[in-house]
Amino acid sequence: MSALQLSGIGHAYLGRTVLDHIDLTVGAGEIVALVGPSGCGKSTLVHVAAGIVQPLRGRVSATYVRHGMVFQEPRLMPWATARDNIAYPLRLAGVSRKERRARAEDAAARSSLDVEDLDKFPIELSGGMRQRVAIARALANRPDFVYFDEPFTALDVALKRRMQDLVISAARDERFGALFVTHDLFEAVRIAHRIAVMERRGQGIAGERVIDGVPGAREDRQIFEIVMRYLGEDSLFHHVNDIDERRLP
Ligand SMILES: Nc1ncnc2c1ncn2[C@@H]1O[C@H](COP(=O)(O)OP(=O)(O)O)[C@@H](O)[C@H]1O
Ligand SMILES: [Mg+2]
Repeated sequence: MSALQLSGIGHAYLGRTVLDHIDLTVGAGEIVALVGPSGCGKSTLVHVAAGIVQPLRGRVSATYVRHGMVFQEPRLMPWATARDNIAYPLRLAGVSRKERRARAEDAAARSSLDVEDLDKFPIELSGGMRQRVAIARALANRPDFVYFDEPFTALDVALKRRMQDLVISAARDERFGALFVTHDLFEAVRIAHRIAVMERRGQGIAGERVIDGVPGAREDRQIFEIVMRYLGEDSLFHHVNDIDERRLP
């Protein structure tokens, strides 16, 4: 059964088409990595799928119950402690104060945050810790689907790896499905079951590849070989590292 189905999605900003004929399905408990060159419309597609942006054309059919979101920047409320940031969606959902506290602490532990960090404000936390708070906030409401939009791009390599492991184990333990946007093919191949490649300028999904093995069980060497094969021999990936010429002066 699919958790998310996008059919014939099209969108435009100020009369300029940024997405066209996008068809994409994510199964329940499946992690699909979405890759494509910068500016091709990945974030717009995430916003459409999550219901934040109403598409001009096409249909979004989501059968998941609750979704969480993690963005490139943690987007925390600076005046609230880590604990209150994590619990914020629960407050919106009307969860009781006591239950909020318990669930926030549980989500924090699952995101490798120490309990003493929960009383700190965002400014007192490192970049990696802030992003862990953002992940804990996304997980606190026990989502069965999570949108990730280049969540680890700003982190250094070692930290990125830890965060990827955290997502892999959380997805497995909580059984959530995910649409994971990244322009890092190594990240995509580590984290996902399947990889979907967007055309330049959002002109549809160019193609998809089911990645050998399962997230969390692939050896580094295997990941490296898969990425090298994609980049070297698979024409689907030829444009992935292009830059968006519309952004150049
Ligand atoms: N709110 C907006 N208003 C106008 N243009 C936008 C807006 N958001 C994004 N765009 C444009 O839409 C295109 C796709 O952007 P985006 O979805 O952010 O791409 P990606 O996430 O793949 O880098 C880009 O050309 C971008 O400049
Ligand atoms: Mg983006």
